[in-house]
Amino acid sequence: MPDSITITDNRSGDSVEIPIADGGVNAAEWRKLLPNIWFYDPAFSTTALCASSITEIDGDAGILRYRGYPIEQLAEKSSYVEVAYLLIHGELPSQEQLEVWTHDITYHTFIHENVRKRFLEGFHYDAHPMGMLVSAVAALSTFYLDAKDIHDPAVRYRQIVRLIAKMPTLAAACHRFSVGMPFVYPDNSLNFSSNFLSMLWKVAEPRYDANPALARALDVLFILHADHEQNCGTTAMRTVGSAHADPYSCVAAATSALYGPRHGGANEGVIHMLGEIGSLDEVDRYVERVKKGEVRLQGFGHRVYRNYDPRAKIIKQAADEVFAITGRNPKLDIALKLEEVALSDDYFIERKLYPNVDFYSGLIYQSMGFPIEMFTVLFAIPRTAGWLAHWVELLEQDQRIVRPRQLYVGHEKREYVPIEQRK
Ligand code: CMC
Repeated sequence: MPDSITITDNRSGDSVEIPIADGGVNAAEWRKLLPNIWFYDPAFSTTALCASSITEIDGDAGILRYRGYPIEQLAEKSSYVEVAYLLIHGELPSQEQLEVWTHDITYHTFIHENVRKRFLEGFHYDAHPMGMLVSAVAALSTFYLDAKDIHDPAVRYRQIVRLIAKMPTLAAACHRFSVGMPFVYPDNSLNFSSNFLSMLWKVAEPRYDANPALARALDVLFILHADHEQNCGTTAMRTVGSAHADPYSCVAAATSALYGPRHGGANEGVIHMLGEIGSLDEVDRYVERVKKGEVRLQGFGHRVYRNYDPRAKIIKQAADEVFAITGRNPKLDIALKLEEVALSDDYFIERKLYPNVDFYSGLIYQSMGFPIEMFTVLFAIPRTAGWLAHWVELLEQDQRIVRPRQLYVGHEKREYVPIEQRK
């Protein structure tokens, strides 16, 4: 049987055979055979933006793998810094490669004093840390002018290391500013997540030693959030990257996309929703409101997963370990009941709506002491590795600039009317 589809143009009766490659129609072939016939696909539901070898998701089976390695194994055995290496380089590092990589990431954690003094401290006292982060990352491009040289692999490597290393420093600085606490400099004797916790919570002690179990739980959350193929933020990264903007501007664009409540902002939404529900007795009523279309169940549903999000499963387990140290989050019972009610209701079953990564992550963050406004920032820190892996990939693929077509539905040509003649 030929691996192709045949399309007949009923206006002319002509038929063309279009080859199928990897389960899809190759747009380059389509363009040659059927010029001027566009796919109308506003949300890219049936469009593959690129070929990628970074992350594989099987949404029906609930499978997520980075570079072929199952997320469950990475969450159990690896560290975020090693996973970042894997995403960027394509292979797990040798001992020596990991040491060099860890050293590089550790020694690029400091930010230029003017980023803090001129940019971060210039924000209004109640600025949202995500807004601050987006701007601060974009501002970094003005400090590293060599970053524009995106075709030089050595320059690229330097920016990758800087971005992965400086994101926690910027994130912590945004938080400290928003609560009126002084900036804490990185402590290079600590590992990635312990250093982040030190920059967040250190007060007057000479050295802040985070609870190792909490630092590990955070590291696992970083691993789970490190990449997720062509989501909205990554698509922003690849789109801006395809224009050959510098990587700081690209990451700022991707971070902006992540800020949205339909994307990385959903973990904030979950906590607000659980607060609004308030008690176990109100769960059924809330689910009825969801079914009437009045509200959306935050932390539920996914464009790709039509099954339980594998990250949500791991997070649910991690939550127990965190709550053993911090005490149980009182909203957990509402979340568990909500999940139980939703998963046994036809509305959710028919639409294959399951908890996603954001459903339980917010509860952990809240129990660890993070203010709600920081949740999406916690997502942006590890996702930076994934964004950069996609950036490197698209440059190596020499991808053309992203430039979709549109379906024009506006007015036909009309004559300009002088203002005094307008109705
Ligand atoms: N609550 C209630 N109904 C829902 C939900 C939800 N959370 N999600 C989807 N539906 C319904 C939707 O109303 C539609 O029903 P119908 O066919 O009757 O119109 C059907 O399910 C299909 O939904 P859709 O809007 O076509 O799905 P989508 O792929 O466009 O949207 C989504 C995906 C994640 C934006 C959406 O599920 C949603 O808004 N979820 C809540 C926000 C959320 O948790 N976002 C985090 C996503 S995971 C992390 C990340 O990507 O950052």
